[in-house]
Amino acid sequence: MTAPLLEARDLVRHYRAPGGYFRARGTVRALDGVSFTLHAGRTLAVVGESGSGKSTLARQVTMVETPTAGELRIDGRDVNADAAYRKALRPQVQMVFQNPYASLNPRRTVGQLLEEPLAIQRRCTARERRHAAYTMLAKVGLRPEHYSRYPHVFSGGQRQRIAIARALMLRPRLVVADEPVSALDVSIQAQVLNLLMDLQQEFGAAYLFIAHNLSVVRHIADDVLVMYRGKVVEQGRKHDLFAHPQHPYTQALFASTPRLRARSHEERQTLPLPAPESWPLAPDSGP
Ligand SMILES: Nc1ncnc2c1ncn2[C@@H]1O[C@H](COP(=O)(O)OP(=O)(O)OP(=O)(O)O)[C@@H](O)[C@H]1O
Ligand SMILES: [Mg+2]
Repeated sequence: MTAPLLEARDLVRHYRAPGGYFRARGTVRALDGVSFTLHAGRTLAVVGESGSGKSTLARQVTMVETPTAGELRIDGRDVNADAAYRKALRPQVQMVFQNPYASLNPRRTVGQLLEEPLAIQRRCTARERRHAAYTMLAKVGLRPEHYSRYPHVFSGGQRQRIAIARALMLRPRLVVADEPVSALDVSIQAQVLNLLMDLQQEFGAAYLFIAHNLSVVRHIADDVLVMYRGKVVEQGRKHDLFAHPQHPYTQALFASTPRLRARSHEERQTLPLPAPESWPLAPDSGP
């Protein structure tokens, strides 16, 4: 059997508590023995309340931080054992952040934002980069004239489209998205989720998708990981987990959003989002 694209084995990340000393009492166990696998082209949603360690997990997976203990494997190899391997992996693991107002450099045009990753990798000529940027703009539902505009003229949904486009320029095999739609208007969230799913079909990237909103998870995930205080309390296929949450914490999480609880099999099949056919491509107003 082929190795999963991503595997975490007993991943631990501690932080020194602000103002404390490095001792048990002053240590935040942001990740406390997290294990899971994510296969190529699939979507694993990570849910859990604020402070449960979701963004900490994202920072380990994107190799921005090094775990305190445990292993993070990509293609079966520990990414933290070998700096050269980590460097080779960086373009293959990209990130989409929650807030597209903060994550896009306001001094760069859309074209520059999209071409930058290619320029850093020195993979192609300026002309090829420009062509790749225009192509990607179209794929995320933006128009050619957007190429030379600055982020501030775009709406939130459009900015997130730009951030997604930028993340995909290097054709990553893994995209870590930390609450990518929770800063957007509810009406825009479905469009951006739909876009992410279409792009996954097209490019085949696996998603590690962090979310608060269970209707978002229900829509986008294949598998779900439920975190509580740095630990995984439950994980499994989305359908099983939504139909029969086993852990009391998962049950409580679901119960806290009662309108998402399926009362019948019929309802369970239906998304609490408008039907995909009715989603326009880029109707949110902007330039
Ligand atoms: N750099 C840091 N230094 C100290 N503590 C940290 C640091 N980063 C995170 N923490 C702590 O680690 C724990 C997990 O934080 P994390 O940001 O991963 O949670 P989260 O699940 O992403 O929460 P949210 O849903 O609010 O984004 C929290 O207790 C947080 O205060
Ligand atoms: Mg977070």
